[in-house]
Order: sequence, then C-alpha cells, then structure tokens
Amino acid sequence: MQSLAIVGSQWGDEGKGKITDLLGQKCDIVVRFQGGNNAGHTIIVGDKKIVLHLIPSGILHDHCTSVVGHGVVFDPEAFEKELQTVLASGCAVTPEKLKISSNCSIITIYNRLIDGQRENKGPIKIGTTGRGIGPAYEDKISRIGLKLKDLLDKDILKSKLEANMQEKKILFKYLYNIEFPSIQEETDRLFELGKKVAPFITDTFSFLDECIQNNKKILYEGAQGVLLDIDYGSYPFVTSSSTSSGGVYTGAGIPGKNLEEVLGITKAYTTRVGEGPFPTELFDAKGEFIQNKGGEFGATTGRKRRCGWLDLPLLKYTVKASNITSIALTKIDVLAGVENIKICTGYEYGGQTIDCAYPGIDLSKVNPILKDVETFHDDFKSDELTPALQSYIKTIEEFVGIPVGILAYGPERSEIKFVKEYFL
Ligand code: GDP
Ligand code: IMO
Ligand code: MG
Repeated sequence: MQSLAIVGSQWGDEGKGKITDLLGQKCDIVVRFQGGNNAGHTIIVGDKKIVLHLIPSGILHDHCTSVVGHGVVFDPEAFEKELQTVLASGCAVTPEKLKISSNCSIITIYNRLIDGQRENKGPIKIGTTGRGIGPAYEDKISRIGLKLKDLLDKDILKSKLEANMQEKKILFKYLYNIEFPSIQEETDRLFELGKKVAPFITDTFSFLDECIQNNKKILYEGAQGVLLDIDYGSYPFVTSSSTSSGGVYTGAGIPGKNLEEVLGITKAYTTRVGEGPFPTELFDAKGEFIQNKGGEFGATTGRKRRCGWLDLPLLKYTVKASNITSIALTKIDVLAGVENIKICTGYEYGGQTIDCAYPGIDLSKVNPILKDVETFHDDFKSDELTPALQSYIKTIEEFVGIPVGILAYGPERSEIKFVKEYFL
C-alpha cells in the first residue's frame, strides 16, 4: 500500500493524532488537506504531550516529510506559536521536513472577529472553535481571500486586503458595532508573520506529484470528522470544509486514483463538541463518568465534550460517505469495566425503523434503538481479548461491513493492537 487517508468517522476527536503519529513511522509523507487550527490532535510520547493544530502529526518522525496542502486555511500567527511549541519539545522542524502550500488560504484577524461576533450575535450558535475557520473559507469561495504567497509582497498584500475588507468594514461598523484593526495594521502584521513562514512555503502540488511518481508512501491526515463535513455532516452544525475522503483530492491536490485505502478512526463511544443534534447523547451520571474517564475535554478550546453511546447508523453512513475501508477503534479502554453499556443499532424515524443515518434525516427527531452490551473487563495486558469485547467488535464489523484493523486501548504509542497491517 502506498496511500492511505485517515478520517474521523464521527464528530471529531476520535484519536486521529495518535494513529497518524503511529502510522507515520511507516510512511514517507503525512499531508493535512483541509481544516485549520480548529483541529487539536494529541500525541503522547512518554511523559510528553504534544497537541498539533496545523502541523501534520508526522512531524515527530525525522524520516517523515509533513505537508500542509492548499485546502487548509492557514493562520500564520497560530502557526508561529505552534512551531515554537514543537521546537521546544525537542523536535526538529526544517524546510526539508515541513512544506506548506503557497496557495493555502489565510485566516485574517477580520475572519476571527466575524467568527466571534456571529457566535455571540448571529442567528444560529454553532459552537465554533472561534478560530475564524468558516469566515476564511467564505472569503476563499467568494474569491476575495488571501493566499499564503500574498504575504510575501507588501503591496499585493495591502491591495488584496483592501478588496477583502470592502464589505466587512460595513459589517464591523454598522452590524457588530466593534473596533477593528486598520488595513495598514493588518498588512504589517501579516507581512511580518509571512517572513517567518517563508522558509516553509512550497509548491506542494509539484512536490506531491513527484512523491507519487517515486512511489513514496503517503498518509493523508484528516481533521474533524465526516459528521462535521460541510456537505455530508449534520448541517448547519458542521465545520466549513470537506472532512471526508473526497476532500483529499482537491485539498491535497492529488489526482483521483491515488488513494488506496481509507481508515476511519472511530471512538468506542461517541463525543461531540459544540452545538447540534446527538441522538445517543447521555445526560446522566454514566455520561459524566465516561467524560471524566476518557478525559473528554477539547484539545483546542478545552470545552467539555458531550458523550454518548456508539451510534452504528451514523457509522454506517460515514463509512459509505467516505468510502472507509477499515476502522481503527479507539478508547476501548474507557468502556472496559463499565456496566450497562449500550450500542445504537437503529433509529425509529417518521414511523419507520432505519439502520443508516442517510443525509436527509433530521437527527434531532430520531429515536435511537439501544441494545445492551455485555460488560468486558479487558486490561489489555495479554494479546487475547475477552469474548465480550470480541463480541462488541464483531457487532460493529457486521453492522458496517468492514473490518476493525486497529484497536487502541490507551493514549500512549504502545497501547495499540494492529489486526491488519498498513503501509506494508
Ligand atoms: P483527534 O482530534 O482525533 O486527534 O483526537 P484528540 O487528540 O482531540 O482527542 C483524543 C484524546 O484521546 C487525546 O487526549 C488522546 O491522547 C486520547 N487517546 C487517543 N487514543 C486513545 C485510547 O485508545 N485510549 C485512551 N484512553 N485515550 C486515547
Ligand atoms: P479535530 O481535528 C471536534 C467543531 C466545533 C463546532 C464545529 C464548527 O481535533 O477532530 P469551526 O471552528 O470548525 O467552524 O467549528 O466543528 N469542531 C471540532 N470538533 N474536533 C475537531 O477537530 C473540531 N474542529 C471543529 O466544535 O461544533
Ligand atoms: Mg481533536
């Protein structure tokens, strides 16, 4: 296998960072293709915890080149901070190891302001990360956005910002009634930041094209999850990018045939940060217990993650929507020893029973059908899994029709069992 995409199969935070870091040992290139610093991908190495937001999770391996593709929205200030954190952890970050597309769209300070204002005063509260992600993608699609290469020429930067601000000035002044930095201030800020990013700016399209020609092993690291996808997700409570495997082609910039497998990272239960429907959500002590045991706090914003049972109709849907070929089941240790575990195997919806959450359905109106799961007491010290856990895994595999290829039972690199080999 030469190419694999990792996608979150739920609402994000499934453990993509840990799995990307581990598979990064076996491949040459790790590519981020969408999203921005709304992502928070945690990697634990010994007593060190590193949370990556923009830099791909292959960065800890010296043999691996990390690429930020043009589908990513790039906040140069957030990048600069993250770079310092990664360097402080003792990891080398050189232009040979990290390549950022000259065509990444920029998140400006104005995008961040709009994100914040909409959350406070807008018609719908999404519960965004407040990083300016949606407004930056809007600028891109409206064709008034800035690209990373624009930060290298102050005159171009200023004239693009002027065009970009034409409508926003009115919004800030009359709708939101807030102070905002002048175009000159934002030009100066972005120009200074551009100098720091400059060594890493690359034509990543040509770089990846050459890697593919040379049979390099490439891992595409998704951020968020398929249920947060702008098209496939629980709209409008979604992020603003294509988080499913379809996003790899346009966001990384590779031709369609170059993706062999898709690994869906799936938490053994379900979590969600921010607003939006969540059919299997737990509002009782059990939910709180899982939240505490699983350490379910956002890696980017620190918000509590809502917790609920594993939702198979949603998983069946995301497997189809993202052409997921195998599953990495994570955080199974969090459910070990828990009494009265449930799993959702269908919905009652509009007088019918359905087993796949197709996109048109209103998730706030479904009645989840919950089945009891036998408690498993695995401590993962031996290679053998208890029959109860084997049965939980089999239920998932049979329901969605693809195998569980990886089992993760703790945050550490060593706490993993490979049932299937990747990048052989
Ligand atoms: P990502 O956004 O998908 O990369 O996931 P996050 O890093 O936001 O959240 C996953 C959290 O679970 C992190 O704190 C990880 O260190 C942790 N984690 C990952 N895999 C496992 C696992 O199998 N068991 C446990 N207990 N924690 C895990
Ligand atoms: P990783 O990659 C979980 C959620 C936000 C909000 C919605 C829109 O760590 O899995 P945005 O700031 O993107 O406009 O917010 O999407 N969200 C995430 N939830 N994990 C993430 O990333 C997320 N990135 C965004 O909470 O509900
Ligand atoms: Mg996360």
